[in-house]
Formats: sequence, structure tokens, C-alpha cells
Amino acid sequence: MSIEKSEIVRLLADEENQQKLFAWADSVRKENVGDEVQLRGLIEFSSICRNNCLYCGLRAGNTKAHRYRMSEEEIIETARRASELGFRTIVMQSGEDPYFNAGRMCRIIREIKKFDVAITLSIGERAFDEYKAFREAGADRYLMRIETTDRDLYHRLDPGMSWENRYNCLMAIRELGYELGSGIMVGLPGQTLESIADDLLFLKEIGVDMAGIGPFIPNPDTPLADEKGGSLDLSLRTMALMRILLPDINIPATTAMETLHPDGRMLALKAGANVVMPNVTEGEYRRLYELYPGKICVNDSPAHCRSCIGLRIKMIGRSIGTGYGGHKKS
Ligand code: 5AD
Ligand code: SF4
Ligand code: FES
Repeated sequence: MSIEKSEIVRLLADEENQQKLFAWADSVRKENVGDEVQLRGLIEFSSICRNNCLYCGLRAGNTKAHRYRMSEEEIIETARRASELGFRTIVMQSGEDPYFNAGRMCRIIREIKKFDVAITLSIGERAFDEYKAFREAGADRYLMRIETTDRDLYHRLDPGMSWENRYNCLMAIRELGYELGSGIMVGLPGQTLESIADDLLFLKEIGVDMAGIGPFIPNPDTPLADEKGGSLDLSLRTMALMRILLPDINIPATTAMETLHPDGRMLALKAGANVVMPNVTEGEYRRLYELYPGKICVNDSPAHCRSCIGLRIKMIGRSIGTGYGGHKKS
């Protein structure tokens, strides 16, 4: 449905009545995408990044970060194990690491496709021909947050990057027939409620298939160490409004929400979300892929997280999706 920007701003600001907003989003979710929660297995395969986003622990300028790159074999083996745990979507995420060029990525994609899974890529800005090659190799979906639609804020927070280029990448991805995922962070320094409302309207306008919304969490090893960060409540209100604006899309209960609250993802599932993306990265790599502090599950195994999340989803009366869980337009 459509909501005026001024009304979105009012609802974003209305802490007192947020439970009503959550209940509204929850009923829209139930009516449009049902009670199934779609699980995605997230592989964080390289913590090397050429960019310098001020908010992120993987930024090139963070000399304290311990960098790793999984081998092709490790990545494929991780995906195979995730498929055995029942995941029907594998999300391959990394910093913008040029080592994983089109040739390497396509080899990995082709191997992982053999496990009968959908593949989502989350590897940042690339050339059109690379996006095209990944798609031809079998990638189904692409995830790249716009982070904020406030151009000035974006350019302050992402030095050396261009908002227009990011936008053009999203358009190219859609044109190539990927399911398109994007999203934003909530609580960035200098971000206003008006700006968040613009973000929501932007995501609606470009017609995303998936929207990931999470709080900004200040990382002590970045230039934004002393900033305040986003709140769980405002993130949940933003997410709930996304559900109301785009009733049938996929909306994850984000990991950053659970970092702020031990039950953050379940609260999100009860306020409009229908997707969870448990980490299936193994061993030390989990801890080293540190966008923000307090990351959950760093000492847990993929199998442990799979059963933990499965139980918790059942506890709130929901079931786990058995298909690929793509965007079904209603
Ligand atoms: N807090 C919360 N989210 C972050 N991201 C990066 N750094 C942070 C942080 N400090 C998010 C960005 C990026 C996604 C992979 O992680 O939105 O797109
Ligand atoms: Fe790199 Fe992404 Fe972190 Fe920016 S947010 S520094 S592109 S990993
Ligand atoms: Fe990792 Fe619960 S999801 S321990």
C-alpha cells in the first residue's frame, strides 16, 4: 500500500504506539507471505575489502582487522554442508575483494549450484559484465544495500564511492534478471527520520524483492567509534513500515537487531520479517568477519545455529520454508 511521507515520518517517531504498528505489519506479513520463515545460509568468504566505509570494521583503513580469504574448496565445502543442514539458499558475502574475479566467482557458483540451492551474491559493486557472468553461471539473487538515499550523507560515510554508481549497479542487477535485494542502516550519524522515510519510499519505488534493515552499530576500530548508533526500536519500526509498503517482499530479521537484543530476530519476525540468515561460516572466520562489535554466534557451529533458530521459530508458532523461498509476487 502507499503511505504519505509525512505519515511515515509520524509513524517512525511514534514510540508510544509502536506495538500497534508491529501488529499491523505482522498481519500484512501473515496475509501476504504466510507463516513460513525462509532460511538462508550465510557464508562470509572474504574479509578483504578495497573500500573505506566509515562505519564498517572491514574497511581497508582498519589495520586492526585480521583478514582472511577462504579457498574455493573451503567455500564450496561450506555450501555443501549448509545444503545438508537443509538450507535451500546460500548467500555468499564478502568485502569488495578483487581477488574473487569473474572467473573464480563463476567456478564457485557453478559448483554450489550442484547442491540444488538458490544463490544470493552480496559482494558489492562490480562491472555490468561481471554481474552478467555471475548470472549466467547460476546466481539467482543479489543483495546490495543502498545504505542511505541521502546522497550527501552517503558520500560522507563512503569516501571514494559514488551513490550514483551504486544505484546504477542496482539497476543493472535488476535488468539482468536477478531478484534484487537492498536495504539501509538505521541510526547513521546525521540521518533524520525524513531521510529514513525517503529510503523506504526509494526501496518501494525501485521495487526491491528483498529489503534488509538493521541498526548501525558503532565499531570502535572505525572513525565512527564514538557515534551513538541506531536503536532496535527505530529499526523495527522502519522494518515494519517496509512490510506495510511492500507487502509481499522478503524481509530478513537482521543479525544486527539480535546484537542489540538477545531476542531481536524473533521480535523482528513478529513485526513484519519473514527471513532469517543464520551464519554457516565455520571456525575462526566467523569471528574475523567483524562489521560491528558484539556479533552473535561467533563461537557456535552452523549445525548449532540451524537447530537453535529452528527451535525458536517453532516457539513463536511459525514454520520453516521448505522451498527456495524467492519473492512470490502477489
Ligand atoms: N553496523 C551495522 N551494520 C553495518 N554494516 C556495515 N557496517 C555496519 C555497522 N557498523 C552493514 C552495511 C552493509 C552490510 C553488509 O552490513 O549495511 O551493507
Ligand atoms: Fe567494504 Fe562493505 Fe564494509 Fe564498505 S560495508 S567497507 S564495502 S565490507
Ligand atoms: Fe546461532 Fe542461535 S542462531 S546460536
